[in-house]
Amino acid sequence: MRVAMNFSLSSKAITATKADCLVIGLPEKGEWPESTKAADDALGGLIKQLEKAGDLTGKNASVNTLPLVDQPWQRVVVIGTGKDADRTATAYRKSLIAMTGALKDGPSKSALISLTDTAVQGEAAVSSEEARLNLIGRILEDQLYTFTEFKSDKPAARKLKKVVVQASGAGKSLKDAFNLGLATGRGMNYTKDLGNTPPNICHPVWLAEQAKAMAKDYDSIQTEVLDEKQMEKLGMNTILAVGKGSKQPPRLIVMEYRGGKAKDKPYVLVGKGITFDTGGISLKPGEGMDEMKYDMGGSASVFGTMKVLAETKPKINVVAVIAAAENMPDGGASRPGDIVKTLSGMTVEILNTDAEGRLVLCDALTYVKKFDPAAVVDMATLTGACIIALGNHATGLLSNNDELANELLAAGERTGDRAWRLPLWDEYQSQLDSNFADMANIGGRPAGTITAACFLSRFAKDYRWAHLDIAGTAWNSGKAKGATGRPVPLLVDYLMTHAG
Ligand code: BES
Ligand code: MN
Ligand code: ZN
Repeated sequence: MRVAMNFSLSSKAITATKADCLVIGLPEKGEWPESTKAADDALGGLIKQLEKAGDLTGKNASVNTLPLVDQPWQRVVVIGTGKDADRTATAYRKSLIAMTGALKDGPSKSALISLTDTAVQGEAAVSSEEARLNLIGRILEDQLYTFTEFKSDKPAARKLKKVVVQASGAGKSLKDAFNLGLATGRGMNYTKDLGNTPPNICHPVWLAEQAKAMAKDYDSIQTEVLDEKQMEKLGMNTILAVGKGSKQPPRLIVMEYRGGKAKDKPYVLVGKGITFDTGGISLKPGEGMDEMKYDMGGSASVFGTMKVLAETKPKINVVAVIAAAENMPDGGASRPGDIVKTLSGMTVEILNTDAEGRLVLCDALTYVKKFDPAAVVDMATLTGACIIALGNHATGLLSNNDELANELLAAGERTGDRAWRLPLWDEYQSQLDSNFADMANIGGRPAGTITAACFLSRFAKDYRWAHLDIAGTAWNSGKAKGATGRPVPLLVDYLMTHAG
């Protein structure tokens, strides 16, 4: 069990708050923020002196911990915030990550953070105090995350229990911004928990249980789960086709958050929930296959976002639909060459059983028409090609609507959870031609991310739709292997701009 941290804001003078640790920002040359001046005064000019001596450089994201005696604080952690001209939102975010790293394993039980009055360059994101408080809240929760559930030797309990963040006042807009940031970080952490949970535990029925637990925990959330019989009755044959090779039956999970007026059209989030992707009969190579437990990352980000909504209660209606299945090879599995009728009535020739994400999503995209959506955004770890195109920095964005695409791109910029748009031109559609069915489920190697989205677009004609390919951004490979919590910040920011 994770012990909840106590977070609060303070607008008192910093010297009025006792804490084990004071955190201040130190620019590299240039004008100091007021809180840094106040700290230096309280410490009798110590910071100035150490800066002069060259012990403190203010280099961005540098961390120096100075023990203190006879002060309201036992130590001061000096976070370099770089040169004024270089302090972009990204640089500021880096300094906050460095700060949280220092607090995470440090000896302090309580910390007073005064980085809010550091000015940030550029119009995006962090130029207002609200935006900075939102970011501080999010980074604190996000960076304090650990996942040790399956370790026998639990690391020693964290000392840090209480964090106070300096703000210029105690007004509602400042508090709301900080709380939204904290909630966003916790939503990311929930997303990470789901993604990190091993695939022998996290299977479609287990995911459905998580959704039911959400409905129990939050009055504002209602959950409905369709089992394989109900899906069969409706004709959701492509989800069923993907799940056929697994002992774990597929599920369609629907969660509704109704915070807006009854007449407000809902924003619909659709998540790919492949709890393990072996490739099926078109089996993947063995190396690194464990990472395919994150193939439910899209649905995990939908869960995380719903949790943020339930905790912050914005005036908006949001419906979440998760297409959950396990893609396994087996005597009952779908074969390359199988033809399946989708919920839309169109037929698909499954030429490669490893292109299963689009198969579960296409039925979900048809299903969501019944909600008369204001917009539909789907999240999916859909293509390896997206990692080749954009690496691990940007989510791939494809959309049938420029306005929606631009709003999502802007939300990504504001939060630093960035996306990059790829074209969805008609010229690519013919790569999906099939000799035997209405379409094939693969379009060959060229432009793999685009042809996957082209496939989805055929089921999303009746509403404003965007697709986020998060194959490269939902998790880290290598030493820091694990889920990232993306694109929860982007989604939350986007939805909040539409809340009444
Ligand atoms: N889940 C994978 C995509 C993926 C691959 C995500 C690597 C993250 C890392 C997806 O189901 C898949 O297998 N896609 C195929 C599509 C191909 C068969 C057209 C791919 O990308 O190779
Ligand atoms: Mn696959
Ligand atoms: Zn997959």
